Amino acid sequence: MRRPVSATASGRRSGRLPTLVDAHFNRALQINHGAIGRYGRRRSGGWHSDRWHRIGRLNGNECWVGPFDPGVQAAASKLTLCNFYRPNDEYPEFLSAVAEIERVPLETVLPWPGSSDPLSRAVVTFCSPTRGIVTANPGFELPWWTADWVGAKISKVPLTSDYRHDVKAMLAADPNAGLTGTNTPLEDIEWLLSNKPAGSIVLVDEAYIHFSNAKPASYLVAQGKDVLVLRTFSKLFGMASMRMGISMAPKALHDKMMRYDGRQQSGTLPLPSLACATASLKQPALIAQRKAEMIAARNATFDHLQNKRLSYIPSDANMFMVDWKRPAKDVVALFEQNDVAIGRSWDIWPTISRITVGSAANMEKFCSVVDKII
Ligand SMILES: Cc1ncc(COP(=O)(O)O)c(C=O)c1O
Repeated sequence: MRRPVSATASGRRSGRLPTLVDAHFNRALQINHGAIGRYGRRRSGGWHSDRWHRIGRLNGNECWVGPFDPGVQAAASKLTLCNFYRPNDEYPEFLSAVAEIERVPLETVLPWPGSSDPLSRAVVTFCSPTRGIVTANPGFELPWWTADWVGAKISKVPLTSDYRHDVKAMLAADPNAGLTGTNTPLEDIEWLLSNKPAGSIVLVDEAYIHFSNAKPASYLVAQGKDVLVLRTFSKLFGMASMRMGISMAPKALHDKMMRYDGRQQSGTLPLPSLACATASLKQPALIAQRKAEMIAARNATFDHLQNKRLSYIPSDANMFMVDWKRPAKDVVALFEQNDVAIGRSWDIWPTISRITVGSAANMEKFCSVVDKII
């Protein structure tokens, strides 16, 4: 069984806080400047121009529609209460909903503004210049950037020939590190937990699990393992800029991640987002319907790629990889000229692009551009 994209990071800290030197701050400035450049810049034609509104955005693994109606209504009902940090029981209601659905103890659940914060925070907490991070390659870059900032050794291990995490090679890559996982069967994650160095953690990033039929890893949290499971509302729930995420982990592990802000980030979330997330979680029929819609659009696209004899990596998520057999950046430009934005490639796979699965109409447009340019 495949696991949707997950990134795992870990390592052990000696209990001492890392000594931050000028190089750390300079590196942070570089990263921040990069982000300001990335997000502040207008794309060719401008993100806000008509062109970018009608363009097929198949580049960011966003959802093709916004939050579910019950979520929108719940969010709207909280807007006029936003003068308060915690007007009612919004936090306990969110935590109880997660604990009940995931069957994990209440005290193992924390809310976040998206899952990027706990992902980076885990690296800051558990990695150090003497404790590295091991991830699959390709993988989500954020933990690499954070590990670079922390000064931790980064080991990137290629996926297996059938695109799973190669957990044995990952353990061998840096026996002094903690471990990482993406597209990994649960048996492999269990193997990793049994064989990893004492004191390290396994981080399972289940950002795309709601699109998959795979069993989630949250049961490992309920078993008290050294595991941190991350979720986001940015994907299937269509809440990317509402910023909501979840981490599930044994309390002692979460406590370590709180050392520098005393739960401030986790405990002061935008109220409408919190209410929207709680209401959305309780919509199994809508979740199943959106998942089925995505799978149908993805399957239709796979059929088209097969007919074109293009090779792609089947996926369990709202994204897949296509091998153009030529530099991916050239193909990205061709798609852009045809009003479709496709995703990035990785150094390890320079001819392969990541494509987000959008609506059925988005994917028809994608296929028509494939026909035109390939
Ligand atoms: C694998 C993975 N993890 C985490 C994230 C972070 O998303 P967010 O911070 O919106 O929850 C992303 C975003 O695309 C992702 O692809």
